[in-house]
Amino acid sequence: MIEITNLSKSYGSTKALRDLNLKTSSGKIFGFLGHNGAGKSTTLKTLVSIHNPTSGSVMVDGMDLMEHRLEIKQKIAYVPDTPDIFLQLSAGEYWSFLIAAYQLDPVAVQSRLEKLTSLFNMNFHIDETLSSFSHGMRQKAILIGALMVDPDIWILDEPMQGLDPQAAFDLKEMMKSHAQKGKTVIFSTHNLDTAQQLCDELAILKKGQLIYNGPVEKLLAEHGNRSLEEVYLEMAGRVDQPIMSDLNGEHRE
Ligand SMILES: Nc1ncnc2c1ncn2[C@@H]1O[C@H](COP(=O)(O)OP(=O)(O)OP(=O)(O)O)[C@@H](O)[C@H]1O
Ligand SMILES: [Mg+2]
Repeated sequence: MIEITNLSKSYGSTKALRDLNLKTSSGKIFGFLGHNGAGKSTTLKTLVSIHNPTSGSVMVDGMDLMEHRLEIKQKIAYVPDTPDIFLQLSAGEYWSFLIAAYQLDPVAVQSRLEKLTSLFNMNFHIDETLSSFSHGMRQKAILIGALMVDPDIWILDEPMQGLDPQAAFDLKEMMKSHAQKGKTVIFSTHNLDTAQQLCDELAILKKGQLIYNGPVEKLLAEHGNRSLEEVYLEMAGRVDQPIMSDLNGEHRE
């Protein structure tokens, strides 16, 4: 279980997160929604120790993140918001680096790696450098690394971004199956259909503040069972639509 208590994060004078309180439990898919700049990546980067919180605490399986960083990192696979990392390595070198970092047995992990590279059509690109890949291929290489390591907690920041429809479908199935095994999947997305399809629990952030946390069905039931898009825009979007009507009327004379 991950328990976030009064978590705040500022970058200089920018308050990216304000007093966030959340709990995620095992066996669930937990989705973060929020406009650009709402604080989704900041939350996920704090969970994986890329950023230190300004204040507040994060407990993972009863351990304080600040005191047990390494042990907690071993429990987490992370896919960052952009796949532009380790660009000088080949895909195979990147995966070997992860095997070493997570202290996995290379022989034991080999068959899982082969299945993943074949599933994502990356088996003919193992020796090519990440810098030579398209955006989607880089995303696949990073995902394959995380799914190969397969620790209890997956933290995926906009993981379907740039994936082809087949890869996105396969990833969603893997996320469901990971949760069904009693493990945890935490991800962020801008795709409300994906969120509605996949999430057991939602957290909606607006300007660094949590404005909803709970099941999708509960949120929709509280709002007359309208679509998630309508409900989300009402909660997280603009109060009125003057900019849109101005833009639409601009060329009509
Ligand atoms: N490294 C950084 N240095 C300074 N400010 C940052 C940094 N990272 C994020 N911010 C700021 O923190 C706020 C939250 O950003 P964050 O990346 O968490 O948003 P997000 O919800 O992930 O947005 P997006 O949907 O665009 O990915 C924004 O105001 C952003 O400008
Ligand atoms: Mg982000």
